Amino acid sequence: MSSPDFSPHSLREKFLKFFEQRGHRVIPPSSLVPENDPTVLFTTAGMHPLIPYLMGEKHPEGKRLVNIQPCLRTDDIDEIGDTYHHTFFEMPGNWSLGDYWKEDAIKWSWEFLTEELKIDKNKIAISCFAGDGNAPRDDESANVWKSLGVSKKRIKFLGKKDNWWGPAGQTGPCGPDTEMFVWAGDGEPPEEFAGPEDIRWVEVWNDVFMEHDKQADGTFKELNQKNVDTGMGFERMLAVLNGADDDYKTELFWPIIQKIEEISGKKYGERSDQEYIDTGDQCWVNTRRSFRIIADHIKAAVFILTEGITPSNKLQGYVLRRLIRRAVVKGQNLGMKDDFTSKLASAVIEIYKDRFPRLKKAQMVIGAGLEEEEVKFRKTLDEGLKQFEKKLGGFGSAAFGRAAFGAGGVKKTIDGQKLFDLYQTYGFPLELSLELAKEKGTPLSEKYQDEFNKEFEKHQEISRAGIGAFRGGLADAKEETTKLHTAAHLLHSALRKVLGEHVLQKGSNITAERLRFDFSHPDKSTEEQIKKVEDLVNEQIQKNLPVEMEEMSVDEAKKSGALGVFDERYGNKVKVYTIGNFSKEICGGPHAKSTGELGTFKITNEMSSSAGIRRIKAVLE
Ligand code: ALA
Repeated sequence: MSSPDFSPHSLREKFLKFFEQRGHRVIPPSSLVPENDPTVLFTTAGMHPLIPYLMGEKHPEGKRLVNIQPCLRTDDIDEIGDTYHHTFFEMPGNWSLGDYWKEDAIKWSWEFLTEELKIDKNKIAISCFAGDGNAPRDDESANVWKSLGVSKKRIKFLGKKDNWWGPAGQTGPCGPDTEMFVWAGDGEPPEEFAGPEDIRWVEVWNDVFMEHDKQADGTFKELNQKNVDTGMGFERMLAVLNGADDDYKTELFWPIIQKIEEISGKKYGERSDQEYIDTGDQCWVNTRRSFRIIADHIKAAVFILTEGITPSNKLQGYVLRRLIRRAVVKGQNLGMKDDFTSKLASAVIEIYKDRFPRLKKAQMVIGAGLEEEEVKFRKTLDEGLKQFEKKLGGFGSAAFGRAAFGAGGVKKTIDGQKLFDLYQTYGFPLELSLELAKEKGTPLSEKYQDEFNKEFEKHQEISRAGIGAFRGGLADAKEETTKLHTAAHLLHSALRKVLGEHVLQKGSNITAERLRFDFSHPDKSTEEQIKKVEDLVNEQIQKNLPVEMEEMSVDEAKKSGALGVFDERYGNKVKVYTIGNFSKEICGGPHAKSTGELGTFKITNEMSSSAGIRRIKAVLE
């Protein structure tokens, strides 16, 4: 028998087909930057774009869905560097929106692992929720596992920290989960599963049973429907299936690693990170970390740039900047002194060009974006690093890794003001300076964050939102964002009526306070035009028009004259929202029931966003 094909492509295909055969509709992945969720910067899980449907909204494709969602997690950017954490990753997932429950979900997970992927049943271990004040011990799941033949010793009950997932932000759908682990250690696995601390067991899949809705005050309400939300670690699974002890050795990373080897003249090496070799060559370990961080960060940067984001000091742009600059500093560790990021981007695009054709189309933009940021940062990089050593560190040039401790001398404390200077003058993102300080054993002043913030606030030209302030989950203020979302549809139509039919939405971002709307239009609008747009929107609000939704095929939507981007993001069926005779647009919802709920619409700002794209900010009062 020939061995199964475990290329990234075949794993994706197998997953989708398996669930399609079990009544699931394949839905296209959503954009990496959530369009209608102001409270997170990136799509962090497959369930994220599905939150309204997990809450009870009807999905046009039905109650069983499956897809492979590109995700980006920034919470632990600083932890990237081990063999299996990634900033950008793909997440295969299947969902039941109030349809099947634990038994089917678990049975199918097991069947997929053991029959489709042919993973040895004896090499699988399970964890289940141990129960607490919010929800009981999940014996129901454990019993399903046992009925499938999993031994009791291989099922571990753990608390919320390990076996509870969600909400994606601060509020919303969540619940206990059951996680699947595959043995990746040498030899046969032990009879008893000790838990995830035993890292020879690799967590590959998570089935979440979402029946709770976390409230802003920390309490839980029951959801109206019981949902299943699963997420597989695609890169990890691929490594496990191919017998690789490191995700970076799979097809999804290896070409990037090879390119780094080629440019730096250094080898990725064969040693495992688990052992710490204190024989003077400890840099070996750090070198591998640098390789991984560079590969991870440039890959993530490529995907963010493809979304039309550019490096900046705000929001997604700031994450992008951090990723690129950290990669450049790590490149310096490997002796890469010339610009290299755009060369690595080509390797990333090559890996994903069939899966994400948009990457290839954006190649020029990606290359230029990386290069510009790298060139900008390099201008001050050497000097910035020197400042670190001279003013703050006082250590030798070995500088990276534990060698810092060996250089002798009393370390000066680094305070927030100095951190701000590094940020302002040398372009070192705060997090990067903190990491360097840690690596070099430089003590931080106790109040460095306050000191930094104080300096930061003095510099009004930099938006405060850039630094860490942006966390949390879907809409604490759901109602407000829903109304603004409806207002965005009215604005879209009004702009087309006042400025012309060439106007099309190019992006939007909605918080509880305001809406931001980007559209194609070459010139600045006059005050008169702005006033006209505003009046037109307010007229529709005063008419208290109903907001109606209809499901149809993409073709029907197109024929009906509905506005939409009509790209690969749509599934077979879409929702079309109609507001009186005024607006008709493809959209996932949710929306206000009628325009009368909206209040008064006011445009607060009109400016350029990029070449040929204007931006409007507006509020409801
Ligand atoms: N949403 C779950 C996760 O991200 C499946 O692990």
